[in-house]
Amino acid sequence: MDHFLYRDGSLYAEDVPLTEIAAEVGTPFYVYSTATLLRHFRLFDEALEGTDHLVCYAMKAASNQAILKTLAQAGAGMDVVSEGEYLRAKAAGVPGERIVFSGVGKTGHEIRTALTGGIRQFNIESEPEMQVISAIASELGVIAPITIRVNPDVDAKTHAKIATGKSENKFGIPIARASEVYALAASLPGLEVIGIDVHIGSQLTELEPFELVYKKVAELTEQLRSEGHNIRRLDLGGGLGIPYARSNDAPPLPVEYGALIKRTVGHLGCEIEIEPGRLIAGNAGLMVSKVIYVKSGEGRDFLILDGAMNDLIRPAMYEAHHDIVPVIEPAPGAEQQPYDIVGPVCESGDTFAKQRNMPKLTAGDLVAFRSAGAYGAVMSSEYNTRPLIPEVLVHQDQFAVIRPRPTFDEMINRDTIPEWL
Ligand code: LLP
Repeated sequence: MDHFLYRDGSLYAEDVPLTEIAAEVGTPFYVYSTATLLRHFRLFDEALEGTDHLVCYAMKAASNQAILKTLAQAGAGMDVVSEGEYLRAKAAGVPGERIVFSGVGKTGHEIRTALTGGIRQFNIESEPEMQVISAIASELGVIAPITIRVNPDVDAKTHAKIATGKSENKFGIPIARASEVYALAASLPGLEVIGIDVHIGSQLTELEPFELVYKKVAELTEQLRSEGHNIRRLDLGGGLGIPYARSNDAPPLPVEYGALIKRTVGHLGCEIEIEPGRLIAGNAGLMVSKVIYVKSGEGRDFLILDGAMNDLIRPAMYEAHHDIVPVIEPAPGAEQQPYDIVGPVCESGDTFAKQRNMPKLTAGDLVAFRSAGAYGAVMSSEYNTRPLIPEVLVHQDQFAVIRPRPTFDEMINRDTIPEWL
């Protein structure tokens, strides 16, 4: 459920009509609903009630400071994958002891920053990384809390580009080698082994892969404990999917996911961490765009929008579906027609949808891309020297620009000219 509903014939974000934001901010823009962000965070938090747990929002999904602050104030921890994300989390007021550092390629500099600023744990993905963390922690005279990410070789049944739990993927250490790698960790200075980490992929729409993996994690916990490791924290990753097309069956709910966690690993008495990103931010954000032209092509009509693949890359990159709806509510039974919905960028891949049935639209009409809150703004670029589009946060009847649109001067003046020119 989200807080983007038609009211009085037009689409609202909470109590603010999108037409009002468009008039003030211009199009295209991203808009997020505070109530939806909080609702989704709380669904996870409540699903794990009764177990010692921390929901670490995977901020790669949407990392605007205002979004992070909203979630941090509700009690969220953060899962970060770079120094930039770590510093963003800190800047939003998240204490180090609520920040988990994931990722296969943490550099020495990133590790140093996190060890100096405070970190809940590093999720280690390889032996060389472990050696580097051990060396830096020893040099700084601190102990780095760590988990080791295991690769369980389980098919997450999602898009190949966002599956991470098969042995062919670059993530984690093979679960079969866990004993050996945990023994190495225990022997190195500057490290404290506290748990196990796993994350098998994103946009999972079934519970079965989670169940398979969490059972393997439970077995591994017992095995490692019997080998003398004090396993007391399980980071179970993110990945629960969202309904991109309202017409499809909805994926499992956080409450069902939470029950599965309790059923599979609850008996171990470990502290539980999860790292959801998409489910918290995805349906809490829209991208709003304007029709520039309606163009009649050979056997098809194109809606040419002012938003493009550089603003929302998911359709081009993952063949992702986003529901696209008119901001002005169509009359009941209004005539529909198929459109190819495209942006202005000079690539055929700049196509959001093909032959999508929409009510008849004309130049100047606004449309909203649903489920664009996760992996939308954060994956945008300035390709074609198109400015990064603004982000707006709504809270009840108020809205605020939380990242302004840069001016062309700002964009151009970031380049520097060498003296020989
Ligand atoms: N934890 C780790 C270690 C991750 O790699 C990810 C996502 C998450 C948590 C959060 O997963 P979520 O709950 O959001 O599914 N750009 C792609 C998605 C990439 C996901 C990468 N890792 C997309 O637009 O679909």
